Amino acid sequence: MLDVKAGTLAELNAAVDPVTALLATEDGGPAAAFLSPKARKALAEQAKEEGFTGKAGETVSFKFRDGDKERRYVLVGLGKRKDAGTDAHRKAGAALYRAYKTRFETLWLAAGAQAAVAAEGLWLGSYAFTNYKKPDAEPKLKLVRLVCASAGEAKKVQSAVDRAALGAEAVTFTRDLVNLAPSDKSPEAVAEVAKSLAGGDVTVEVIDRKQAEKQGMNLLVAVGRGAERGPRMVHLTYKPKGAKRKVALVGKGITFDSGGLSLKPPASMETMKMDMAGAALVLGVFKVLARLKVKAEVHGYAALAYNLPGPDAVKPGDVIKGMNGKTVEILNTDAEGRLVLADALHLAASEKPSAILDYATLTGAALVALGSGITAAMTNDRALLAKVTASSKRCDEAIWELPLPKDYEDMIKSKIADLLNIGKVRGEAGTIVGGLFLREFVGDVPWVHLDIAGPAWTDGGTALSAPGGTGALVRTTLDWLGGL
Ligand code: BES
Ligand code: MN
Ligand code: ZN
Repeated sequence: MLDVKAGTLAELNAAVDPVTALLATEDGGPAAAFLSPKARKALAEQAKEEGFTGKAGETVSFKFRDGDKERRYVLVGLGKRKDAGTDAHRKAGAALYRAYKTRFETLWLAAGAQAAVAAEGLWLGSYAFTNYKKPDAEPKLKLVRLVCASAGEAKKVQSAVDRAALGAEAVTFTRDLVNLAPSDKSPEAVAEVAKSLAGGDVTVEVIDRKQAEKQGMNLLVAVGRGAERGPRMVHLTYKPKGAKRKVALVGKGITFDSGGLSLKPPASMETMKMDMAGAALVLGVFKVLARLKVKAEVHGYAALAYNLPGPDAVKPGDVIKGMNGKTVEILNTDAEGRLVLADALHLAASEKPSAILDYATLTGAALVALGSGITAAMTNDRALLAKVTASSKRCDEAIWELPLPKDYEDMIKSKIADLLNIGKVRGEAGTIVGGLFLREFVGDVPWVHLDIAGPAWTDGGTALSAPGGTGALVRTTLDWLGGL
């Protein structure tokens, strides 16, 4: 991993041939408090001559003479001054890494008060999934030093950067799991990964198919029936001393979603290894919880299964009784996420936490409604959602609430069972129907459902993510947990 260390201006001045990265806006030019106004002006003019405008993500590199010193400078655009907040700085960090990762070994970066956010961007932008192939060119960039005015400031910046590093580590862990090929991440294999997180204040319990049957997790078992390699329910517990609050995180972990007997068309299946992104998020969060010194007791659940059309696969028309006693008529085996989550949510609710957050790549309709940049949120507790939304804003991971109207509850009523696993009117309010279904399994525990079908994955890559799994909402969740 790239090393990011706070450094002082004195160290920068003493460095031999340092390369200094400055951040610049379109309307304010490059920011460099340590340069004289005259030098800054001259540098801005030279940047302009090089064709640099300050647009978000734009980069340029040139040598600049300040008095008797000629040094190399690198500029990264932040866009307009009014837009140059945390998001722009994070993205600038990523752009900086990508533009110069094969050119420089060490960079000095002047990012002022946004140093930690820029560092986060450096790490998010440096991610590469290398399980199955070597990166095109081995990155050369090993160290970024953050320019701080004093040793005191450097100390503060370093501790913020260390927190950002843990966030980036969690995102990386989640992305790696999502990017893994589906046959390389059977429910059992993912459960093994979960087990590797045990130690210290974290314990991990894995419930296999037999035990799941015994305990009545019939919906999880039903979804897993079409696959040779059976389902698992993973329960992680983080119990720090003196915890006053208890919360639960629940993740959908379909390690490949073929649709089951309600088989998906081939193109829709291409990315369905990502259908365990919710579970991967939970594991990513658990990877760093203890080191972040989260104060609350946290329970994590990963509902893991393949959704395949094997010989014993659950069939459209089957009626299955979930762990909480409700019967479900399964009319479409491709609406499987809500089934495995039903048992996981019931399990979570039975611990009586003060909040449950669930994460699921649940509906294609969420992607249609909000696109790949925004998570759909639904809740039975607006105050809880307000807290999660505040975290998401701090982390620049957009979420938008959809309602769960009483009037729509009829959509999931079955003629022969308590519930139907799809909406009666096909093609209507698919994301809300998913949320309404899940609400039936949380009792009166405050709960937020996060449908990450859009943001969990990127085909072409984004400013902060390589193509593939994005690790969406990992940072938001850590921020929320940090505030408990
Ligand atoms: N995993 C899919 C949802 C999905 C689609 C996630 C595209 C990411 C991108 C989910 O299991 C599913 O198949 N949902 C169905 C529900 C329908 C049958 C009610 C869907 O969205 O079509
Ligand atoms: Mn499905
Ligand atoms: Zn699915």
